[in-house]
Amino acid sequence: MSPRALIIVSLIVAAAACRSESQPTQPASKAGPRVAVPRAADQPAQADRFADARDRMVAETIEARGLRDPRVLEAMRRAPRHELVPAALRDRAHEDNPLPIGHDQTISQPYIVAAMTEAAQLAPGEKVLEVGTGSGYQAIVLAEMGGLEIYSIEIVEPLARRTHELLAKLGYDKLHLRIGDGYRGWPEAAPFDAIIVTAAPGEVPRPLIDQLAVGGRLVIPVGEFGDQTLEVIVKDANGTTSETLFPVRFVPMTGEAQRSAAPLIRATRRSRAPHTARSVP
Ligand SMILES: C[S@@+](CC[C@H](N)C(=O)[O-])C[C@H]1O[C@@H](n2cnc3c(N)ncnc32)[C@H](O)[C@@H]1O
Repeated sequence: MSPRALIIVSLIVAAAACRSESQPTQPASKAGPRVAVPRAADQPAQADRFADARDRMVAETIEARGLRDPRVLEAMRRAPRHELVPAALRDRAHEDNPLPIGHDQTISQPYIVAAMTEAAQLAPGEKVLEVGTGSGYQAIVLAEMGGLEIYSIEIVEPLARRTHELLAKLGYDKLHLRIGDGYRGWPEAAPFDAIIVTAAPGEVPRPLIDQLAVGGRLVIPVGEFGDQTLEVIVKDANGTTSETLFPVRFVPMTGEAQRSAAPLIRATRRSRAPHTARSVP
């Protein structure tokens, strides 16, 4: 297989954020220099036997594919992914795959979390909403970036309760967490500078666009299972522009998204970001 074809196949597989996909081994590369980012959570300093595994995960499966935002990479090196998977899967926590976490859900694949976080282009002081808390991994990566106001909403109640307890126990006690349908966003906390959606609706939910600030970014998988793409929609004073990043495979957004007949949000297309241009034929 040609190197280009290998990259395309690898990224399509890598984009599978949920269920039982596997990922070809990526070439190793050295982890970049650590950047001083203040800890967002008041976690006790303690020996962490998974720190090397996280460094390798970032170097080999994230930096090696071209993601470069130092704040995102450092947050991925810090976020204790092993704490969010079942104890029996801890030693596999840093594989470049989603893993099951119960309630028929998964913790998202590290590369996808990094790519979506980088695409959100977050700056300190900004307010971000995540739809689909799930394991809490995306939320703690955002927390580890420091300086963000973070909201996250999950529709599966028992999963949400378990994750809320776990995040509090781990010291991530400044997150705003809610149980409910993220289709309608979090109106009382809007507008958001960024919204990251980790379950795929068939169409972009209008309320999420409405809850973006001018200049805000919505990072969202869209489409039916097996035919989804990751979209970045940017709101400006005149409307929205959208950019298709690469094919993905997320669990469907449930709740109102499955009942809604709301029209697809139309947006003006613009060019792809450099790191995504390689991922689509
Ligand atoms: C790919 S998993 C989330 C992964 C999680 N963000 C992580 O970092 O591991 C998608 C999550 O979205 C949730 N979900 C699906 N539809 C939703 C909705 N309408 N509102 C909120 N959460 C939803 C699912 O229950 C599931 O937990």
